[in-house]
Amino acid sequence: MEEQISHIEFQQRIDNGEKIEPKDRMPERYRKQLIRMMSQHAHSEIVGMLPEGNWITRAPSLKRKMILLSKVQDEAGHGLYLYSATETLGISRDEMINQLLTGQAKYSSIFNYPTLSWADVMVIGWLVDGAAIINQTMLARSSYGPYSRAMIRICKEESFHKKQGYEMVATMAGGTPEQQEMVQDAVNRWWWPTLMMFGPHDNDSPNSAELIKWGVKSKTNDELRQSFVDRHVAEAHAVGLEIPDPDLKFNKETGHWDFGEIDWDEFWSVVKGNGPMNRERMKARREAHENGRWVREAAEAYARKQRLEEEKAL
Ligand SMILES: [Fe+2]
Ligand SMILES: [Fe+2]
Repeated sequence: MEEQISHIEFQQRIDNGEKIEPKDRMPERYRKQLIRMMSQHAHSEIVGMLPEGNWITRAPSLKRKMILLSKVQDEAGHGLYLYSATETLGISRDEMINQLLTGQAKYSSIFNYPTLSWADVMVIGWLVDGAAIINQTMLARSSYGPYSRAMIRICKEESFHKKQGYEMVATMAGGTPEQQEMVQDAVNRWWWPTLMMFGPHDNDSPNSAELIKWGVKSKTNDELRQSFVDRHVAEAHAVGLEIPDPDLKFNKETGHWDFGEIDWDEFWSVVKGNGPMNRERMKARREAHENGRWVREAAEAYARKQRLEEEKAL
């Protein structure tokens, strides 16, 4: 009964638009759902460094190399920021990393696709960061204080990522026929996986209703996907690119672009670990973790030494 009363009180706080802070009472399921969602988000930022990081050494100019380096570094910052925000819910970073490396935790399926050409880097900035902004602008209003504040900061950087991606896409779309072909090819390969980033249809998304009730999300997967399509179709057409969807059609009645059906078999196969790059991504993360062991150990030893010296000085 007590549990039920606290649920009602909790719901009232949410409905009043109050933020929930780490030390506040919260239903266990709210805590669990947020840990799942936020750690998954943190993992996505970290694994998301791999496909683009792959092109840093081959960037076509010093300017592009510097921009890409900063972008990938920003993503590392987002990951670390989000791990800290998730720790406020009572899970340690070690535990989260362990869940990622043992395959218990998921990360966004988009990062299991390969980056085959330099144009992929631009299209990721434009489409993948573009999709991330749509999702994260909503999450900036999330009911959990630390998540919402993290999103406000992160969104500012994501919007810069998207602009630099689109600027490169526009440059290449206005270039030679070879460049145009290269950027169109990247769009053809990334468009559908980006649409999948918003997750299953609302009727197949068991967590959605609960997350909306608790104010963690305020829009459904399909609503977010539709706003992504509307915005990016216009941006593609503005620079003369085509969207690889024969069913794409502007619906005058709804004012939105209607689009074709996503290949859900592909989506689930990638989610289950069988995408083109799943194994390689996890291998790279495990190696990075192993290679960083001495740094973590040295940092811990240094912190111990500092503590001892502080105690001695007392
Ligand atoms: Fe990010
Ligand atoms: Fe980004």
